[in-house]
Amino acid sequence: MPESERDPFQLGIFMPNCSHAYCISSYKPEPDDWTYESNKNIAQAAEAAGFDFLFPVSRWRGFGGETNYLGTSLETMTWAAAILAATQTIRVYSTVHVPVFHPLVAAKMGGTLDHIGQGRWGINIVSGWSATEFGMMGIELLPHKERYQRTTAFIEILKGLWTQEPGSFTHVSPWYQITDGYVMPQPMQQPHPPIVNAGTSDAARDLVARLCDWAFIAPPSAEATPDMADDFKQRAQGYGRQVRCAGMPFVLWRETEREAQAEVQRIMDQTDMVAAQNWASGLSIGSESMTGFSLKMLALGAGALPVVGTAEQVAEQLARLYELGMDGVLIEFLHYYDDTVRFGKEIVPLLRQMGVVA
Ligand SMILES: Cc1cc2nc3c(=O)[nH]c(=O)nc-3n(C[C@H](O)[C@H](O)[C@H](O)COP(=O)(O)O)c2cc1C
Repeated sequence: MPESERDPFQLGIFMPNCSHAYCISSYKPEPDDWTYESNKNIAQAAEAAGFDFLFPVSRWRGFGGETNYLGTSLETMTWAAAILAATQTIRVYSTVHVPVFHPLVAAKMGGTLDHIGQGRWGINIVSGWSATEFGMMGIELLPHKERYQRTTAFIEILKGLWTQEPGSFTHVSPWYQITDGYVMPQPMQQPHPPIVNAGTSDAARDLVARLCDWAFIAPPSAEATPDMADDFKQRAQGYGRQVRCAGMPFVLWRETEREAQAEVQRIMDQTDMVAAQNWASGLSIGSESMTGFSLKMLALGAGALPVVGTAEQVAEQLARLYELGMDGVLIEFLHYYDDTVRFGKEIVPLLRQMGVVA
């Protein structure tokens, strides 16, 4: 697509609806705060600062180690309901794990959430990868290929229930049977709220190309970005569709590059190796997403791309991601509230000058 026709870069926050978001490190310069009150304050600050969307993580238990990384987390459908009610313009996502939600229930909750937010809700649909989480519920993790076949059925059901005449949608697959499926209210957004997937395996890429609106991806480096983003977009074109890609940077800036790098070093020096190992081995057994990451890279935002330096350097690196084919970012911060406010004052104006954001 010609550069002039491209939508502006979408700025999102990977929200701390969980403990120890998202550095797998015991370095914490301020008290950990996953509470709703904190999330609401950050959401309202993000809206004022010019962010476009908020994105939570969905977890059912922590990853051990001294931090018990992500051990406490707010469930994301209920979280989104409250955050949508506390904001006016910003888009808010929920994340659902396919094995633990019935798609008709998710469709009904989604219709409800989109009405609460007056057309501002979106959904991230995760096939699931943590055998520990699902084992706790007595749910077996399907083999990777079948997992994505089931996720395909899940999304087809959501779309059917959201777009077809209520009471008319029927679906039969090895996983679901929907007879005269009825969901009212259907969402406000037409044809339906944005659908995200955040897998990077071949199966995930094909799913996104066929059925999703966004791929939220975490390439291991800026250099790896164009190949990954192009692949998603070309596959979608093969199905006569368009998809957009968002990256996951960990953004940290100080007066000087040296100070910023020193802070990064402190995070990495105090890596919670046990939690990082649990996270990585869960992902590498249960998914195909962890190639190209070291444990120390996980310390800094669990696989996020480090975007570090002065305000100008950070703005340039974010603008580069846009040039390299990313259509948006979900940003991780160290000091969530303060950095959200500072980002609005110090980085957004630079991105506007560069013509990257609206
Ligand atoms: C930005 C981003 C957000 C994600 N959020 C979650 C999440 O909330 N819960 C979860 O279980 N997995 C999450 N994941 C993991 C992916 O959804 C996916 O399950 C994993 O990468 C394995 O998929 P794959 O084997 O198809 O690559 C996220 C990944 C990324 C890049």
